[in-house]
Amino acid sequence: MAELSYRTALVTGASSGLGRGLALWLARRGVKVYAAARRRENLEALANEARAAHAHIEPVELDVADADTTLARIRELDAACGGLDLIIANAGFGQETSGKRIKWDIVQKVIDVNVTGAAATLSAVLPQMVERKRGHIVGVASLAAFRGLPRNAAYSASKAFLSTFMESLRVDLRGTGVQVTCLYPGFVKSEMTAQNKFQMPFLLETEEAVELMARAIVRGDSQYAFPWQMARVMGLVKQLPNALFDAAMRKTR
Ligand SMILES: NC(=O)c1ccc[n+]([C@@H]2O[C@H](COP(=O)([O-])OP(=O)(O)OC[C@H]3O[C@@H](n4cnc5c(N)ncnc54)[C@H](OP(=O)(O)O)[C@@H]3O)[C@@H](O)[C@H]2O)c1
Repeated sequence: MAELSYRTALVTGASSGLGRGLALWLARRGVKVYAAARRRENLEALANEARAAHAHIEPVELDVADADTTLARIRELDAACGGLDLIIANAGFGQETSGKRIKWDIVQKVIDVNVTGAAATLSAVLPQMVERKRGHIVGVASLAAFRGLPRNAAYSASKAFLSTFMESLRVDLRGTGVQVTCLYPGFVKSEMTAQNKFQMPFLLETEEAVELMARAIVRGDSQYAFPWQMARVMGLVKQLPNALFDAAMRKTR
């Protein structure tokens, strides 16, 4: 693979799973990566792993649910490093709650992290990127954004928000030199999916998913849904009329 054009990157949700993998993938290819999350000890371990591979990862303790702090911290990092080239809004939270017994604390946490946190992360230094005529922002949505999945009203809707947010930004930023990528993973092994009790079709290993995501980012894809089998299924599900969709969803579990 050709040398990467990024000097610096920020990856949120880098203390585990896909974010951790993406941070390492970039750092191993010479990018200075700011790895953000709440669990400091995980980030320190990640930085040590990078150091052992002669790569550079800087831990950034950050709760993206606090939008004001997120905006301020990312602006600070941007100024300190001479401009972030790549920002990956990957931090995410997912927990099922059935509409019949909906739990507000879960709905609120999903919105705080996946909607407010992601939007703040992606907006923080966008004006600076436009000014520099350089930069790349990436949102990690989900195939769950394609329809309102059962027991996942907040999660599906939060990823649909991110998907539409990225699309509008892509249109707005055309010709500015700032690239926009939205990723739609299917099921991938991680702390988040470890809690799932149901069978997950076409489940990917974390490393496989990281490789696919990183390559899509480097190619500059505007959107990338994977694995292709699940993307194909969800593409069809998206087209189903409500009566058929509802009947199919009633049959799940
Ligand atoms: N795994 C899948 O099947 C799948 C499928 C589709 C989309 N996704 C999306 O992929 C992204 C990564 O998920 P994953 O599968 O890698 O799950 P994961 O291992 O649970 O990672 C989630 C990451 O988000 C961070 N995070 C959560 N709340 C945060 C907060 N308030 N502030 C800062 N960071 C926070 C966590 O770090 P701390 O707890 O240390 O803060 C962790 O690093 C998420 O956006 C998820 O929705 C995953």
